Amino acid sequence: MAVHADLKLVRHGEDGVDLAFRADVLRGLAEPQKAIPARWLYDPAGSALFERITDLPEYYPTRTETALLERCGPAIADAVGPGRAVVEFGSGSSVKTPLLLREVKPAAYVPIDISAAFLHQASAALAARFPDLPILPVEADFTKPVRLPELVAGHAMLGFFPGSTIGNMVPRTAVDLLRSMRETLGEGARLVIGIDRVKDITRLLAAYDDREGVTARFNRNLLERINRELGGDIPVARFRHVARWNPVWSRIEMHLQATADLRFTVAGRPFAMREGETIHTENSHKYTAGQARFLLQAGGWTPATQWTDPQEDFLIMLADASEHRSAP
Ligand code: AVI
Repeated sequence: MAVHADLKLVRHGEDGVDLAFRADVLRGLAEPQKAIPARWLYDPAGSALFERITDLPEYYPTRTETALLERCGPAIADAVGPGRAVVEFGSGSSVKTPLLLREVKPAAYVPIDISAAFLHQASAALAARFPDLPILPVEADFTKPVRLPELVAGHAMLGFFPGSTIGNMVPRTAVDLLRSMRETLGEGARLVIGIDRVKDITRLLAAYDDREGVTARFNRNLLERINRELGGDIPVARFRHVARWNPVWSRIEMHLQATADLRFTVAGRPFAMREGETIHTENSHKYTAGQARFLLQAGGWTPATQWTDPQEDFLIMLADASEHRSAP
């Protein structure tokens, strides 16, 4: 996923502050249920902690999806055929990409990410591994329709959106994103997407509240980032990391809970929190296979094939861009 902000697409104030970050934090802390959008978790320190999360014994999604991609790669290649342009949304460090590229024999690879640094690093690593493959990075916010490079205009497209990043959006936003991807990729496009499944709640809670406390550090890093970048004086040690299952929304929620009545300032504005009150920092929605298919359909994609691991923890789905006008 897009993990840290880059200079070109970010607007800074005179004091060098990321204006969107400041606006989101000040707005979010003023709400009755305090909430800060999850994307701000991923500064360089947060991204490094997230990389550590993906290796934790409790955090099954990354290793499960990787093994699944290894297994179903040949079947995806058979289904989509060679010569497509693979377009990866929020490519980040592109770690799972080689597993797909080596199987589908694409005509080109287009990674889209908001972070120029990530794009260039990942493109260089992939170029070394696939020397004959044209790699055409696009620096953009993939949540909106993206103009693809002219060079891939004549090719059929294969979208790639692994990591269950779709789960970090509320369903309404997830549907908007799927529709926008459909617009970016055009008629005849196909999509490979990774989605985490509903499972035993104890396992889910452990995956988002590991014994080593790495996820807790990842979550609390947001407060450190606020203090550092927005001149805050939040008493970080007075917050504990909480992972909760929300059955209505079928999601794990991460919160930062005040362990005492607190007062602090951010960017010169005063805030108060009661003991036990939380700041909601992330959602990770989990889907049944049926819900995942419905989500894709709502977003303009017709599910074609799905693969799962032996424990049925994770789904990889292949879908086709739905006809704009289907029969009534
Ligand atoms: C990036 N995303 C898919 C992760 C997830 O599982 O929702 C983010 C994460 N947050 C805490 N642990 C992992």
